[in-house]
Amino acid sequence: MFETLKEQPADKILALMQTFREDPRDGKIDLGVGVYKDASGNTPIMRAIKSAEKQLWEVESTKAYTGLAGDPAFGDAMIAMVLGNAVPRGNVAAVATPGGTGAVRQGFDMVRMANPDAKVFVSDPTWPNHLSILKHMGMTMVPYRYFDADTRGVDFDGMMADLAAAGPGDIVLVHGCCHNPTGANLNMTEWTALVELLLKTGATPMVDLAYQGFGDGLEEDAAATRLIASSVPETIIAASCSKNFGIYRERTGLLMAVSSDPSAHGLNQGTLAYLNRQNYSFPPDHGARVVTMVLNDDALRADWAAELEDMRNGMLAIREQLASELQRLSGSDRFGFIAQHRGMFSRLGATPEQVTKLRDAHAIYLVGDSRLNIAGLNKETVPILAKAMIEVGI
Ligand code: LMR
Repeated sequence: MFETLKEQPADKILALMQTFREDPRDGKIDLGVGVYKDASGNTPIMRAIKSAEKQLWEVESTKAYTGLAGDPAFGDAMIAMVLGNAVPRGNVAAVATPGGTGAVRQGFDMVRMANPDAKVFVSDPTWPNHLSILKHMGMTMVPYRYFDADTRGVDFDGMMADLAAAGPGDIVLVHGCCHNPTGANLNMTEWTALVELLLKTGATPMVDLAYQGFGDGLEEDAAATRLIASSVPETIIAASCSKNFGIYRERTGLLMAVSSDPSAHGLNQGTLAYLNRQNYSFPPDHGARVVTMVLNDDALRADWAAELEDMRNGMLAIREQLASELQRLSGSDRFGFIAQHRGMFSRLGATPEQVTKLRDAHAIYLVGDSRLNIAGLNKETVPILAKAMIEVGI
């Protein structure tokens, strides 16, 4: 039977991670996979996470199952972090999931249950795994214009024109902040216009929020999600703790279904719990429990927020340094967009040949669409990258 299986394409980001590991060259620079690195190239365990883990080791007395939705305290703490006071707690159904990807997958599953014919409108480009999961699930996807290749900003007019075609029962998938892979984001005026369009068309928004705290700050990065969830009748939100808590391998995320009709809560909550049961039963607990401890303890929370802020400011400083180094070397302002972008990524707009040359001639690894992981750089490697970019003709 197995011989009937077909080869599946390797995930490009993960394949690149492997190629990098196998590259024997000294001084190689990994700007591929979206993992935060400090100035020495390490992905540290955040201080508050480490303390919470130590405490948990002392106090945890059982490994018996939690609920299908995960520990309710995790849901409460995350909903407060993502949504603030934007919507009443009773309007939010939520389940813990294995990472943000698990939340995305369960969110699509919920959509498919509610409307098997739903069209999912996805930004062009989007995180490649969105497309891969939708394809695997046999769901219909419709790309909408997003990235303006000339300005390296958002093609907002194109986006709005394309999204006018979405209707009731369709999904508009957006990145709540720190768009992956481009780094180009809507401003609040544009988010407001998008909300108006969603209200007009009746399409349902789904927000992928994987980088809260990596762009303009924890609150600022949640502003668009809060605006959407408080304005439209129904919103799906997939939140990840991988990046902002640095717990990638613990697989910690939360899927939320927000409905302005509180009487829908029971059905939504039941559906999400059912989906967990069908797909993997109980969600992972360790990461969720540690996150809950951090969010609910004033001292741990303050320390975590301070460390996250340092990471965010470090990435902004790298953006500024790279943009100004490129300006110096090229004598032009054409790289100013790098300082404007937010989050871990920027799409440079380079050709696949230029990306290959960076890898082959300079041992600098970018994803093939010329996505650069800003957190993979430090003060010393910025000038190396800038020089190499100019040399390969970017
Ligand atoms: C990325 O985009 O690099 C990250 O989200 C990691 C992943 O799973 O692709």
